Amino acid sequence: EIHRASTTAPVNIAVIKYWGKRDPKLNLPTNSSLSVTLSQADLRTHTTASCSSSYPSSDSLLLNGSPQDVSGARTQACFRELRALRKKIEEQDGSLPRLSEMPLKIVSENNFPTAAGLASSAAGFAALVRAIANLYELPASPTELSRIARQGSGSACRSLFGGYVGWDQGSAADGSDSMAFEVAPAEHWPNMRAVILVVSAAKKGVSSTAGMQTTVATSSLFAARASETVPKRMQEMQKAIKEKDFETFAKVTMMDSNSFHATCLDTYPPIFYLNDVSRAAIKVVESINVAAGKIIAAYTFDAGPNAVVYYLEEKEKEVAGLFKAALGDKEGWSGKRGDAIQANSE
Ligand code: DP6
Repeated sequence: EIHRASTTAPVNIAVIKYWGKRDPKLNLPTNSSLSVTLSQADLRTHTTASCSSSYPSSDSLLLNGSPQDVSGARTQACFRELRALRKKIEEQDGSLPRLSEMPLKIVSENNFPTAAGLASSAAGFAALVRAIANLYELPASPTELSRIARQGSGSACRSLFGGYVGWDQGSAADGSDSMAFEVAPAEHWPNMRAVILVVSAAKKGVSSTAGMQTTVATSSLFAARASETVPKRMQEMQKAIKEKDFETFAKVTMMDSNSFHATCLDTYPPIFYLNDVSRAAIKVVESINVAAGKIIAAYTFDAGPNAVVYYLEEKEKEVAGLFKAALGDKEGWSGKRGDAIQANSE
């Protein structure tokens, strides 16, 4: 007999960035963060988890058709935590099948092309954790699951919710209070839009895990960012989202992206995620805002050169028109909302 359950989890893009760990094993961050899921684009990982006593003895994971290594500490931590929760309910109810003792088979597919240049670990671990939780019929809330997904990849904890999601850094050494929370559902601000400007689909040079460790160890800007700048921005950002104040949302988003990349540059050896095309995109957003006489578009960049640009639906023509004029109409702004578009390949 094969037991099986499926789920999906969305990609999330941080507008207040997670960068720095106080505990690299548990992925406990040095600051809280906040993200928006790209719901119009509906970028997701779909995952099916199954288990059976007839499976080969070791756990396995297939991502977009290719086998992945599951022996890493992060994946193992997720498997271990979920099995322990299942074991508990099996011990309480002797009639339940002993799923916790069976090998797991995980099959994941991203519905977005690798060429979108998106880091998929957040949606990937979130979907993996929820699929297994469903398979095991665990009575766990998204908040509880976020604590487990965090151990797979920090940003994954924010993909257990849709819409506007915070990740509370917490202070407990065991990570029990470091988890995601909903700031507002996507429907709260239904005219919010995001497009991804694909500058390069190549895999990033310095992984976030390695990059943040070097930043924590060497950057002198980092301490002030973690202890002063981000806590203040977390408050401003949550207020802006609750009040649907786009100008503040946008300004804080852009400033936090700049602060994160400044911290990367201040790392030794320096980490460069932005390139000339990224900087051109920043200038285009600046000129869009100057032309409008107020802030109608915001950029943010993760650990790579691709821009995510936020704007409100009613400003689509203004934002799209200027982007087209500046970067050329390659594929995209006229295409479906939220589509990944190609600006300029390297
Ligand atoms: C720049 O979550 O990928 O995207 O915890 O080591 O897996 P690990 O790092 P990861 O880092 C994401 C960094 C970021 C900012 C963010 O998403 O908040």
